[in-house]
Amino acid sequence: MQQPQIRQTLPSKTPLVIAIDGPSGSGKGTIAGYLAAQFNLAHIDSGLIYRQVGLYVMDHHLDPDDLSAKDEEVIKDFITTIDPKTLDADARLRLEKTANVASKLAALDWIRKAVNQWLYAQVDNPPEGVVGYVIDGRDITTAVFPNACAKFYITADEHVRLERRKKETLEVSSHITRNMNERDRRDATRKIDPLTVAVDAFIIDTTHLSIDEACHNASQCVTERCF
Ligand code: CDP
Repeated sequence: MQQPQIRQTLPSKTPLVIAIDGPSGSGKGTIAGYLAAQFNLAHIDSGLIYRQVGLYVMDHHLDPDDLSAKDEEVIKDFITTIDPKTLDADARLRLEKTANVASKLAALDWIRKAVNQWLYAQVDNPPEGVVGYVIDGRDITTAVFPNACAKFYITADEHVRLERRKKETLEVSSHITRNMNERDRRDATRKIDPLTVAVDAFIIDTTHLSIDEACHNASQCVTERCF
């Protein structure tokens, strides 16, 4: 499978990075959190940055399908101000409508570049005591950190992913099915950095695995590849 081109300068003094990609509800966030705790690394859920941008666009009554040059400038400025310490602070980030707007915005090249620069800035300036990062998303293994020491593609059957999402939310389940299918389709088919499996990714299908089994498999791979 052909890999997307790296379009940006990678951080100069990259610390250890573990990269994880996968669709919604695959379990990548759970595995990322486990690896971060086990190997004493900071965890960044890059989806939250796209959700932050989605929330900003909604709060400022901007049209995600029709952003002007001025909107582009203010959104790019906003991305530079996102604080990694409060990435998950607003409960509205977890709403379906935020995810839907995030997924539309994630198709825009200039937004992806700005988010990637934000990620590189974090990794380039780790807080005191941080020796590395676990970063999960859709293009982390393929486009953002293709040189990560361990790369994972986490997946699961669609109905299992849907059931997991429905358990996590109080929102109407028929909306979740439609929205998740729509986001999956958009993420996999967009022109820029679509969700694909990196050639050297370790694939974990969590359909029939317990959380413990999935995390154990990932952890073994990290021990072999990164330490
Ligand atoms: O919770 P869910 O897995 O559905 O989504 P998320 O990880 O919170 O990400 C929200 C949206 O941001 C996704 O549907 C993608 O469109 C986009 N995203 C992306 O394009 N690239 C990333 N590295 C992370 C998220």
